[in-house]
Amino acid sequence: MYQKAIAIDGPSGAGKSTIARRVADRLNFRYIDTGAMYRACTLKVLHEDIDPDDEAAVSALARKIDIRLDAEEGMPLIFMDGENVSSAIRGSDVTTLVSKVCSYAAVREAMVELQRGYAREGGVVMDGRDIGTYVLRDAALKIFLTADPRERGHRRFVEWQQKGIGLDMTEEDVINDLIRRDELDSTREIHPLRQSEDAVLIDSTAMTIDQVCDAVIELWKERSVEVL
Ligand code: DC
Repeated sequence: MYQKAIAIDGPSGAGKSTIARRVADRLNFRYIDTGAMYRACTLKVLHEDIDPDDEAAVSALARKIDIRLDAEEGMPLIFMDGENVSSAIRGSDVTTLVSKVCSYAAVREAMVELQRGYAREGGVVMDGRDIGTYVLRDAALKIFLTADPRERGHRRFVEWQQKGIGLDMTEEDVINDLIRRDELDSTREIHPLRQSEDAVLIDSTAMTIDQVCDAVIELWKERSVEVL
């Protein structure tokens, strides 16, 4: 039994969220940003002034936090304990700490339960690091989206400059931060970033957003006829 779901995994800055959102729009699926959930937990750790190294305290907080994904006029929103934290979770304080917070088993368990709950409600495009390998192992289509690290860093730098985020960082800082997080996310013990054996690899280094979206939609058309 396959799920009516597209799992998109890959390293930071490969364009997963942009692609996932557009594909979801085109297929009338719901977009689920799992990285935003780990970011919201991390923001809560900062708000509550909890020591991020205190696994027991962070885990207790993750079990009681109320996280809800929503959308307004096509823009994804995330609420943490009723507060709209969609912008706050993108800050560099959260970005620096999130790889640690999301490495704790209890944090991952709590978030995965929410993620699977969303998937049960109907068609989803879900992006993250462990969606194809763990969260939605039976997704009808799995994509592993990657790109050259320098290109990923460059894209993220340009995006942040446009949005006025992380203005204190140079392009080199952004590239180094992506590489540091990829290393942490790929080497952690629990559900590390890894390409699922049955995932289709897309390297977007020399592709436009439209080309990647078209490729994913084509794969979905073929795959959903085969297995759903
Ligand atoms: O995709 P992002 O940069 O917003 O993700 C934030 C962090 O959360 C990143 O360090 C990887 C982690 N993450 C994860 O471990 N598992 C997921 N399914 C999604 C994100």
